[in-house]
Amino acid sequence: MFKINDNYLKLPGSYLFSTIAKKVSEFQAANPDKSVIRLGIGDVTQPLAPVIIDALHGAVDEMGKAETFHGYAPDLGYEFLRTAIAKNDYADRGCEITADEIFVSDGAKCDSGNIQEIFSVDNKIAVCDPVYPVYVDTNVMAGRTGTYDPKTEMWSDVIYMPCTADNNFAPELPKETPDLIYLCFPNNPTGATITKAQLQEWVDYANRVGAVIIYDAAYEAYISEPDVPHTIFECEGARTCAIELKSFSKNAGFTGTRLGYTVIPRDLKCGTVTLHSLWARRHGTKYNGAPYIQQRAGEAVYSPEGKVQLAKQVAYYMNNAKVIKEGLQEAGYTVSGGVNAPYIWLKTPEKMTSWEFFDYLLANANVVGTPGSGFGPSGEGYFRLTAFGTYENTVAALERIRKM
Ligand code: MLT
Repeated sequence: MFKINDNYLKLPGSYLFSTIAKKVSEFQAANPDKSVIRLGIGDVTQPLAPVIIDALHGAVDEMGKAETFHGYAPDLGYEFLRTAIAKNDYADRGCEITADEIFVSDGAKCDSGNIQEIFSVDNKIAVCDPVYPVYVDTNVMAGRTGTYDPKTEMWSDVIYMPCTADNNFAPELPKETPDLIYLCFPNNPTGATITKAQLQEWVDYANRVGAVIIYDAAYEAYISEPDVPHTIFECEGARTCAIELKSFSKNAGFTGTRLGYTVIPRDLKCGTVTLHSLWARRHGTKYNGAPYIQQRAGEAVYSPEGKVQLAKQVAYYMNNAKVIKEGLQEAGYTVSGGVNAPYIWLKTPEKMTSWEFFDYLLANANVVGTPGSGFGPSGEGYFRLTAFGTYENTVAALERIRKM
């Protein structure tokens, strides 16, 4: 008789954004006359930039001719894209990352969930609390997190690093030594960032204790302040302790078309084994590459026109962030984030729990957000709104919230 991977049964509830989607459809079915504004999941709303559409059209035409047709992509991704990434995202920032240290994929969500596979199940993970749920859930699936305590909403074998108003939503070095440290800056969900000096402390710490930092930089394009690092490889010593995850979803609107990449420097080793070789083995065995047309679209992101068009798109969303932040502040809410990230983190009013506020906001303003407690116990009493809606919906949502 077959047996299942019963680690899956340990997972409490369903994936956060699936739970929210279900609640919203139930509300919409019961209230068909209400127009619901969705500022919950961080999904973009602006169309792909013209330069990307042109690149996609060009690549589709190539696929229609025998002489320019492309089948399976190379294991690590096409050279033209990896070279563009290495130059623009690393060399131009003074960081030493070569094209062959970049693995192109269909997005950072899959990579952030799959990367744990190349580590022993005995490794102990440290996560920020609150945190993007994929990091913890995929380690649960792998059997790395011990037992779940429904009272504290914590796993016995996970090191939680609370990110609260007291520490400006920036984690402190943990007391217990982890093997794998997940960091995401600019942060999802709090929208907080850390300075380069703060990130350097993490890199020094990881090198000192022999830990690996899995650094999720999906929101890097939203950085507006000068002292915030765009990549962990700006820090000295990161090549021996860090893996970086990047996405084209948020900077270029690829949530529906999918593209991302992971950087594993060849200097990152366990004894004599490079993590690069393990991920290359995994990639080769389990993955057949992001589509050619997508990789051409990714290349267009780094073209001069691409940079101009996408900077406008980022500015559009950051204007929404300003509308949300200022609107909430005027309405008397305590808010943070929204300066270097497209997420606004607010304190729920009148000591409501995060889910109480979710229901209250949906019922009274017909606006959907994300309950902070869905990201971890320290998110209780907080709520996340995304700036990825349209400008019109964002303004309308804030008007409704002010009237509540
Ligand atoms: C979020 O809302 O946290 C993100 O959209 C999730 C993701 O990028 O997968």
